[in-house]
Amino acid sequence: MSKVIKGGTIVTADLTYEADVLIEGERIVAIGPDLKGDEVLDATGCYIMPGGIDPHTHLEMPFMGTYSADDFDSGTRAGLAGGTTMVVDFITPRPDESMLSALQSWHNRASRANSDYSFHMCVTAWNKQVFDEMKVVVEEKGINSFKHFMAYKGSLMVDDDEMFSSFQRLAELGALPMVHAENGDVVAQMQAKLYAEGNTGPEAHAYSRPPEVEGEATNRAIMLADMAGAPLYVVHTSCEQAHEAIRRARQKGMRVYGEPLIQHLLLDESEYANPDWDHSAARVMSPPFRNKLHQDSLWAGLAAGSLSCVATDHCTFTIAQKRNGLGDFRKIPNGTGGLEDRMPLLWTYGVRTGRLTMNEFVAVTSTNSAKILNMYPKKGAVLVGADADLVVWDPKRTKVISPKTQQSVIEYNVFDGYEVTGLPRFTLSRGKVVVEEATMKTEEGHGKFVPRKPFTAVAKALSQWKDIVAPRRVERAGIPVTGI
Ligand code: URP
Ligand code: ZN
Ligand code: ZN
Ligand code: ZN
Repeated sequence: MSKVIKGGTIVTADLTYEADVLIEGERIVAIGPDLKGDEVLDATGCYIMPGGIDPHTHLEMPFMGTYSADDFDSGTRAGLAGGTTMVVDFITPRPDESMLSALQSWHNRASRANSDYSFHMCVTAWNKQVFDEMKVVVEEKGINSFKHFMAYKGSLMVDDDEMFSSFQRLAELGALPMVHAENGDVVAQMQAKLYAEGNTGPEAHAYSRPPEVEGEATNRAIMLADMAGAPLYVVHTSCEQAHEAIRRARQKGMRVYGEPLIQHLLLDESEYANPDWDHSAARVMSPPFRNKLHQDSLWAGLAAGSLSCVATDHCTFTIAQKRNGLGDFRKIPNGTGGLEDRMPLLWTYGVRTGRLTMNEFVAVTSTNSAKILNMYPKKGAVLVGADADLVVWDPKRTKVISPKTQQSVIEYNVFDGYEVTGLPRFTLSRGKVVVEEATMKTEEGHGKFVPRKPFTAVAKALSQWKDIVAPRRVERAGIPVTGI
């Protein structure tokens, strides 16, 4: 049974044109005028785009004494409802747990996924076992990206020497280091001081993590990655200080990528001034929401290309779970949701306002992630041979976001009441129509793991770059070459 998507306009990261898309089984087999198929999906008035890729989720993750509430079933359903056809979730081993055993539990949990998925691995400890397992994870398990927590002191955080060693190992293996960039020592000290002075509510969470702690850590991670000869991906970039460091690094020729979240683009710090404890605690995440100036910086970075991917960091907790932190803001589980709403919100507040072009929208919601994470053009593309992970986007469909109609299992939504214009008419996961307007046709377990190969070419280029390109670059800037 073939399917043809007819009458729409294809929008990719670099092209906009009218054509039909023919799908056989799970793949795109033809793109062009007047194609015929057994089943016709009417895309009149719609844009046909690569399905969204959310490069940053935490589904059913053990964290802060509990598990994040959305699992691979509800989480991927939420994604599909909003046009996201793939998630990349963070395997987070306990510091005493082996990477391979954590990998197995993630595969078990992810077997319920409704959409395709891939994994990043978190480096939560540094020892010989981790060093050895990294090679297996990269070369045999299809994972080429590893995150380091520079915050969460006393649990997931790694120190500079551990992080630097890990970056060097990853450079050698052709894998991509990632960082949660906040200075965890400074955050811990500020948290202790605020708490001792009687600040126990959610607003103190934001006070304890100002933009400077993120800017400092981002700069530090960039310098360490450069010394290690590795590229770097900075997750949840929320402020100008971090964006500025990323911008500067990219201008100097470093492969550094920044990832703002839809939450930081749209929600600001005034959320924590809400006197309703549950409201503010629901919005506790790290980094916290910032002011409008930081938001403008992030929007500008998406248009200018200094920031690469819009993610959600989807990590939801119910009100009861958030209440674990009543009386002590340090115990409020950190995390918010956004999987269902990322694409409609970015379309409404980005494309419709003129802040982003449609092609930039596709780049930052899908194609850039596919390229950076080494799964392009299987994912992130409307091309013959690519997986038919597609969204037929109706720019006129509207709704008001509400927890009553969402796929996520939690009782609230941080975007409750936001109006969106621009929603999927159809979402396709590997050729299967899984969403038709508001009707869910998803199938638990339909999702498959997407293995991602190491970046052999990049690793080679980097070893040359350190020897040849870096000194030339620095000479041009008039800075002595010594010490590089
Ligand atoms: O607050 C957040 N972001 N929770 C999820 C874990 C992380 O730091 O990404
Ligand atoms: Zn289910
Ligand atoms: Zn993080
Ligand atoms: Zn995260």
